[in-house]
Amino acid sequence: MKVIRNACAVASLWTAGVHAVNNGLGLTPQMGWNNWNSLFCDVSESLLLDTAEILIEAGLRDLGYNYVVLDDCWSDGRDETGHLRPDLEKFPNGMKSVADHLHRNGLLFGMYSSAGELTCARYEGSLDYEKEDAESFASWEVDYLKYDNCYNMGRMGSPLTSFNRYKAMWDALNATGRPIFYSLCNWGEDYSHSWGASISNSWRMSGDIYDSFARPDPICSCTNFDNPLCVSPGSQCSVLFILNRVATFVDKSQPGAWNDLDMLEVGQGGMTDEEYKAHFAMWAAVKSPLLLGNDLRVMDAKTLSIVNNPAIIALSQDPMGEPAVRVYRNENVPKDEYGIGETHVWSGRLALGDQVVILLNVADEDLQMKVPLSEIFIRDGPGGSAPQVSHDWDVYDLWANRMADSDAQSILDAKNEAAREAVFKRLNWYNSTETAYADGLQKQDSRLMGKKIGTVNAGGVLESSVERHSAKVFRLRSANGEPPKRKATVKDKEIKDEL
Ligand SMILES: *[C@@H]1O[C@H](CO)[C@@H](O)[C@H](O)[C@H]1NC(C)=O
Ligand SMILES: *[C@@H]1O[C@H](CO)[C@@H](O)[C@H](O)[C@H]1NC(C)=O
Repeated sequence: MKVIRNACAVASLWTAGVHAVNNGLGLTPQMGWNNWNSLFCDVSESLLLDTAEILIEAGLRDLGYNYVVLDDCWSDGRDETGHLRPDLEKFPNGMKSVADHLHRNGLLFGMYSSAGELTCARYEGSLDYEKEDAESFASWEVDYLKYDNCYNMGRMGSPLTSFNRYKAMWDALNATGRPIFYSLCNWGEDYSHSWGASISNSWRMSGDIYDSFARPDPICSCTNFDNPLCVSPGSQCSVLFILNRVATFVDKSQPGAWNDLDMLEVGQGGMTDEEYKAHFAMWAAVKSPLLLGNDLRVMDAKTLSIVNNPAIIALSQDPMGEPAVRVYRNENVPKDEYGIGETHVWSGRLALGDQVVILLNVADEDLQMKVPLSEIFIRDGPGGSAPQVSHDWDVYDLWANRMADSDAQSILDAKNEAAREAVFKRLNWYNSTETAYADGLQKQDSRLMGKKIGTVNAGGVLESSVERHSAKVFRLRSANGEPPKRKATVKDKEIKDEL
């Protein structure tokens, strides 16, 4: 038995090895859909049921997108017993009926409230009504709660104040006895990444995303995160901003508890195809929740073929649950009219000794990007000391087998179930309902591996052209037999097992 003498190491081992949160949910990041980014308050029973149908028909449920999450604007105040009432114009059969329908179809039901007197759209909030509202959610057989931060009556401004306000709902949900995924939406206020894992399955770590790859916006205000006066995380935050924000604490994610980079904007129209691919792949590699934010009723083929790529989703659903980290940032590159221009290399451990490497180009021109194995495996030992550096690695391009537009279109156009089934059969598309990602990876299912494009030999350099505003996403796999054993860190199972 190894004795760890360093008290700090033991403390982080504790948080890594034992789920701080143990409702048993979110062992990989949650996937699904939420209406807010595209539809805001335009919610109804028929929207949820229509969306559920598309999730199933487009093959998205069977890639893991199983939470249908209703956002704000669903309630009609409280009844005389203090319990929330659904708006019966929007939800004529009530909430339990929606849950039943989703459950019958192999989906899960998410709802929304705010840790404030009002929700953000000024409906009734749950502050000081945690017990009543948790009871309602459980009685409706809700599976997930997104819990916002508006109208919090000033109960914020220190980590403990925010922690306690959010813990009240965590305790209330727990007391119902129903496992309910708890998704904190406090915009990263009061350092939620430092306490979120103790009382939630995921916590938002920034102001709201908007449909822009890199454009800075004054409403996404806090650029200096160390500034204690930076109390308004705002909204209108770009993909690049959120990635830079999370980069310094991305490793707080762990199975059961994830940094939430906010819902996806893929398919909303504000980014190019390459930007959306980069956005989606980064969210997957960093282990953010993957919640589609587009209106599925008007989804086009290119959008479907981004979000249905099983080789990218396998990064998110990797059983190790270790987020990719930013190992390199270069700001000395051509800048756009907003003064934005930088490149990143992100790298992360995957199950079975694999490694994900992302070359992200947010410079204002196409670039040739390079990264040596010594940087890719920096977490396994500095200065090229990691054993992985003196090993040969096959390189797989995870976008190479993206579904063709015409195939995605024929899925969206299929007139009936038989026609759709025929397309999925012909393509032999991955189905995670049949084969969970952990099993597919164990079996080295080629549909999760992308396409082999080369090998980086021991001591070598991974190099690729990367278009302006795009990302290359690679899986590295041992080219010759067993990959080298990873250097033990406090997050490693080997150590956990030895204790
Ligand atoms: C995936 O597999 C399940 C279980 O066999 C099946 O019911 C479902 O129709 C499949 N999905 C697709 C899109 O083929
Ligand atoms: C409630 O919390 C306890 C102790 O943390 C845990 O063992 C249990 O699984 C939780 N139950 C639910 C329904 O979340």
